[in-house]
Amino acid sequence: MSEAASTRVALADSTTLLPSLAPLLHEWLPRQRWFAGKGRPITAFSLVSATEMLPVDTCSVGARTGTGLLHLLVRVHQPSMPAQSPDDCYQLLLGVRSALPPRLAPALIGHVAKGPLAGRTVYEGLHDPRLAELLLERFRTPGTLGALRFDRGGTPIAAGLAPRVLDTEQSNTSLVYGNAYILKIFRRIFPGTNPDLELPLALAREGCGRVPAPVAWFEATAPGPLTLGVLQPFLRGAEDGWQLALRALASGHDFTVEAHALGRATAEVHTALATALPTPALRRSQTEHLAAAMVQRLEAAAQAVPALMPYVPGLRTAFDAVAALGHRGHNWVTQRVHGDLHLGQTLRAADGFWSLIDFEGEPARPLPERRRPQPPVRDIAGMLRSFDYAARSHRPWNAEWAAHCRTAYCEGYAKASGVDPRSEPELLRAHETDKAVYEVLYEARHRPDWLPVPMAAIQRLAAVAR
Ligand SMILES: Nc1ncnc2c1ncn2[C@@H]1O[C@H](COP(=O)(O)OP(=O)(O)O)[C@@H](O)[C@H]1O
Ligand SMILES: [Mg+2]
Repeated sequence: MSEAASTRVALADSTTLLPSLAPLLHEWLPRQRWFAGKGRPITAFSLVSATEMLPVDTCSVGARTGTGLLHLLVRVHQPSMPAQSPDDCYQLLLGVRSALPPRLAPALIGHVAKGPLAGRTVYEGLHDPRLAELLLERFRTPGTLGALRFDRGGTPIAAGLAPRVLDTEQSNTSLVYGNAYILKIFRRIFPGTNPDLELPLALAREGCGRVPAPVAWFEATAPGPLTLGVLQPFLRGAEDGWQLALRALASGHDFTVEAHALGRATAEVHTALATALPTPALRRSQTEHLAAAMVQRLEAAAQAVPALMPYVPGLRTAFDAVAALGHRGHNWVTQRVHGDLHLGQTLRAADGFWSLIDFEGEPARPLPERRRPQPPVRDIAGMLRSFDYAARSHRPWNAEWAAHCRTAYCEGYAKASGVDPRSEPELLRAHETDKAVYEVLYEARHRPDWLPVPMAAIQRLAAVAR
């Protein structure tokens, strides 16, 4: 053992480790769904931290037995546009073996030619059940390991659960353990606490059962704290709201009972967040800033997507109305919100109970902006847009279906919170407009086939002004 320890990979020596992995990462990273810097060349990598979670024992080269797990935080240097964040930091969990068994072939990253891992094969460690089990084991015995700190709440964590990787994710990687837990591994790492840990913890403290309570989590301590992953109970047999809505549309079923229940669930979460965390009122200058930021996003989107141009004057009236109300001294209350609420962020259990998940906010926005208190109507606008998306993705377009859902959702929300979102029409319209503008930009960039969906909303929202 002492001999193995003395021959362990010199991870601290980033001068050789990272350069030796760089050619592989150059190829592999841009192909990952969660890599946000697609289409921009990678100019360099730098090592933020390296932790040997399972020692990579150099003695076993050629012996086919040794498996190691390296946890890396790597900064990826790329030329950036003014609006883009430069040099994102990514979390990598690299499996290291002398040779990959065939079942792990799809997880291959590549063969290392030189440096401390010369002659080894590195691969996506989360796809190796043995390494995924090791990660769960770390949560069971919390503490510090290299640059990492593992923490857990009061509930003991079961052992020996078989892991599987979920393939639904967009910007993270999630592992399910024996249908008991789901571990969400963040890939793009931002400084500070991720709201997807912060808000579920606050909600759990408040006794709000609408959000699966974090069971355990891990962070990087240096340069920290940076939230790296959260383990929560897996809601077995739950179905997501988007799939349920599409199924209801396909079979011609009403969705208003569900929409009403979703309104209640949203209101309960908002009420608990408002109790748990600060609720500052928007000062006049902040309201002006809110409206100005929406105008700015509209103008930037219209530059990028010329089809928006004709609607800019009509859409602007939504933001001007909010600015005018602010100017007249109307001050709205803000609070922490979900930040990216839509049907795909809701789960319905077999007994009909709705939960909300994924409190990360819009991953494209900087973390400080996502953690800022906002009018709760922002979430409501998100869900209303989602009903519209669902209705529009079904042929023939069923406008009434979305309108009924909208009413039921607002009624459910009003019933549980005492506040009807429709009682502030200017604020609701401004947030719906802002959301639709974001969607136009997103669809134009990523899914041009879907562009007609937000464009239809843009036409409707711009016409309100006439
Ligand atoms: N607690 C949970 N129980 C069951 N399934 C879950 C749970 N949390 C997430 N999921 C499933 O994983 C998917 C992705 O999770 P989410 O947190 O929304 O990550 P992403 O940021 O990748 O969207 C969800 O759409 C849902 O199907
Ligand atoms: Mg999600």
